[in-house]
Amino acid sequence: MNHVLEEARAILADSERTVILTGAGVSAESGVPTFRGEDGLWRSYRPEELATPEAFAADPRLVWEWYGWRRETVAACRPNAGHDAIARRCMSDLGVRLVTQNVDGLHQLALDGLGAIDGEADPLELHGSLFRVRCTRCRYGSAHRGPIDASSPDTLPRCPDCTSLLRPAVVWFGEALEPQVLSRAFELASEADACIVAGTSAVVHPAASVPLVAHERGGRIIEVNPAPTPLSHLSSATLRASAAEVLPALLEATR
Ligand code: OAD
Repeated sequence: MNHVLEEARAILADSERTVILTGAGVSAESGVPTFRGEDGLWRSYRPEELATPEAFAADPRLVWEWYGWRRETVAACRPNAGHDAIARRCMSDLGVRLVTQNVDGLHQLALDGLGAIDGEADPLELHGSLFRVRCTRCRYGSAHRGPIDASSPDTLPRCPDCTSLLRPAVVWFGEALEPQVLSRAFELASEADACIVAGTSAVVHPAASVPLVAHERGGRIIEVNPAPTPLSHLSSATLRASAAEVLPALLEATR
């Protein structure tokens, strides 16, 4: 492990531009359930059954109840040493950029905790945010951190502009990602000399294509994950450890 860590540090030390792609595993040690882990179920539902436009159209109350639960779970969680290490590195080195699949907002919270103000180090949130809403009909969207009353269809949050139902501003299965966010992520990947892939099963595309683009353009992949993924065989350094344990050692000692 120490030998691989040294190799990974050497890759980062040689890299002018690094992109970091994170997934749910980075927040696991903060207490946020992963999607495909054993704790990923709510009642008996899998995320794939609820995080879809069809599920929301059929039963918006149920889907909002699930999001209300997720928001409460996440609101009680704090960034861990992995989020903090990424935040410190992105703030101190503008050649390092973060792309996340996570909707939990913990990367931003870590940056806020370090006093980041200029927005340059902000993560690209590929899948949106649990703490934003948007209108199902018009262009309205805003931050939303308050409680959700999903006790009946009549109490669900409504658009202040057109009174249609509001929905979570997250990307659901079968929906396209925000084109500008996605193209910026691919741009960063295509310019990167190194790509750290941490805490993602790397099975959901297009997010999982970000490291593939970096690799195709000659960038070297560093994987941080206790379990193998479809990217493992492309990685130049594979750190089989938890993100909170290894990211501080990886990111804070290279420059
Ligand atoms: P997954 O739940 O699919 O994968 C989590 C990964 O984290 C697994 O590979 C675990 O081995 C790894 N892991 C677990 N604990 C870890 C730890 N402490 N440190 C490092 N790694 C750890 O979550 P994602 O890959 O993020 O999309 O899922 C991708 C997307 O699928 C999500 O963004 C979500 C979901 O559908 C949408 O909601 C659109």
